[in-house]
Parts: sequence; C-alpha cells; structure tokens
Amino acid sequence: MIILGIESSCDETSAAVVKDGKLMSNVTATQLFHSKYGGVVPELASRAHQLRIIPVVEESLQKAGVRKEELSGVGAVYGPGLIGAILVGLSFGKSMALGLGIPFVGVDHMEAHLFSNLIEDPKPSFPFVNLTVSGGHTQLVYVRGPFDYQLLGETKDDAAGEAFDKVAKMLGIGYPGGPLIDQYASKGDPSFVQFPRPYLSDDSLEFSFSGLKTAVLYHLRRIGFAVNGEGSPEAHEKLLSNLCASFQAAVVEVLVAKAIKAAEVTKVRHIAVAGGVSANSELRRRLRDAASNRGYDVFVPRLEFCTDNGAMVAMVAYTKLQKGMTSSLELTAEPGLSLE
Ligand code: KG4
Ligand code: ZN
Repeated sequence: MIILGIESSCDETSAAVVKDGKLMSNVTATQLFHSKYGGVVPELASRAHQLRIIPVVEESLQKAGVRKEELSGVGAVYGPGLIGAILVGLSFGKSMALGLGIPFVGVDHMEAHLFSNLIEDPKPSFPFVNLTVSGGHTQLVYVRGPFDYQLLGETKDDAAGEAFDKVAKMLGIGYPGGPLIDQYASKGDPSFVQFPRPYLSDDSLEFSFSGLKTAVLYHLRRIGFAVNGEGSPEAHEKLLSNLCASFQAAVVEVLVAKAIKAAEVTKVRHIAVAGGVSANSELRRRLRDAASNRGYDVFVPRLEFCTDNGAMVAMVAYTKLQKGMTSSLELTAEPGLSLE
C-alpha cells in the first residue's frame, strides 16, 4: 500500500510518501517570507501553498521513486489551522484521489502530530503520553492506541510557541521566536528574572501562557528596555540572553512538570513530544533529565518531523486506510477542528 500525505494547515507546504508503513520521502517548503511581518499572514500563506503544492507533491513522488498511478490513497489535513491554507492541500488531495480513482483520507493535524514519533524508530509503545507543543497548540494527550485518545489538558489561552514568538517580538529579535530565544538563552542566566510559572502547583494538566507573556512585558517596561539597545552592543546582547534564558526556564519548567504529572496520572512509561517547540534544546534536556530520574523514556522526533510535515500526515492516512477508514470527497476544511 502506497500513500501520499499532504500538509498545508499553516506555513509549511509538505508532502510525503509512505509505502507499507515505511517513509519513502518527505518534502517540505517552509514559507520564510512571513518573518518580515512578525507572524504568518493567512492570505499570503494560501497563495504560497498554491504556488508550491504541485512541485512539492511531484518531488515527494520522485524522491520516493513512485508514479502517481501506483498510489493506493491520498491523505490531506482538513483542520485545525488557517482555512485558506488548509483548503489548498485538501482540495488538491481530494482532486488527486478523484482523478486517480483511489480513496481519500482526511487527517486531523493534531492527530498527525501524535504520529510524529511513530514515523521511525525508536517509537514509543502504546499507551503513551504525548505533549504537543507548537505555535498554535499546547496539549497533553493520553494515546491508548491509534485513534484512541484522551485529551488530558491544553492551554486556556496562548500556545507555548505563540508565547515564544510574542516575547521574541517584544525583545525585537525576530520571527519565529522559538529558535532565536533558544539560541540567546544558551548564553544567558535563567535565574536573572524569576518570571511566573503558570499553574505549576496546580493539580490540573491545563496550561496558560498569556500571563507569563504579560509579566515579561511589564518587566521590560519596568527596566526601560529599548529594542535597539542602550549602552554597548555587548551589554544589550547579555541582557537579551538573560531575559531569554529566564523566560524559557519558566515555560520549560511548566511543560516538563505537567508532562511528568500526565505520565504519573495515566501510569504510562513512555512520554513523547511533538510540534515545533519540541525542537527547544532546554525542553529536551530538562524533560530527559526529569523523566530518567523517574524511570520514564522520552521520545522526541527528528527536527524535520517536529515542525509541520507531510510524513506524519501520510502515516495517519496509511494507518487509517489499513483499517478501512476513508473520507468522503465532501469533507471540507474545519479550521477549529478539535481532537475530541
Ligand atoms: O509545529 P510548528 O512548526 O507549527 C505549528 O503548527 O504551529 O511550530 C512552530 C512553533 C513556532 O512558534 C516556533 O517559534 C516554535 O515552534 N519553535 C520553537 C523552537 N523551534 C521552533 N520554540 C522554542 N524553541 C525552539 N527551538
Ligand atoms: Zn503543527
């Protein structure tokens, strides 16, 4: 069985081929131009997906050494995400399936992130807890098996990645903020400012990052922070590093504590992390330390499967098709789709 998977829900146009459960190719075109606007511009994202969808799909087939006539099915994301962006990949996937006379499989983007640790070895075994941390989402999910999930908790306001992006904007260091804050933080002192740890002592598995973002803003006002820096460039660089390290420490402490708590509550042995923020070096380090002290194994995908990608979509579509789960060609985009 050979499946093509398409992802277009935000700013990555990506396509991948899975053959008999094995990933054959994964081609991703990232829309870097959004950085000059400080965030993803939905209209521009849709247009860029339109321009890139055909070359990305063609390249994924070519790299896999597969002709489109050999495909057994096509999967595409139908939500959640930006409606105009989703529609490009979804319509393309449905049209391709119709033209080739093969089944179409609609894929939930958040479900796809749960599969990003199931693409290649080492894989977590069921049941496991998955922490999905991206620009749009922060969720803890109990994964009993494929398509058998329980949402344990999620953010009540901003997503973790969104907080990274917004704080980076306040600091004037660029977009996307996560990787930049990660870099600055590696040279900074995490105890420079004690920012709040939202819900840390709370027994719930919910998150909230909006208050932390505001705490950073108030701190910057209090110290009279200037984006362009006052004093020497070295002093400004040092200040940025310390602020980034302090902010990152607050986010990471909460994410790690809640992930461990979720594993305790569900009595699993395996903790998986997915989504763009799982690229964060401090999160990886802290979670691995905290988990190994308590006997849990941590799974984090390769970088290309952390951020949005077609491979995780193709993997969901392959597993669904194996179980005979197909979608109607009437399936439409659901920007607010939720896991349960
Ligand atoms: O999963 P993703 O590519 O797209 C969404 O579905 O949102 O995640 C993008 C998010 C951005 O907010 C970005 O700042 C964040 O992931 N991110 C990071 C790092 N790399 C990317 N956040 C913290 N540390 C990183 N190293
Ligand atoms: Zn995502």
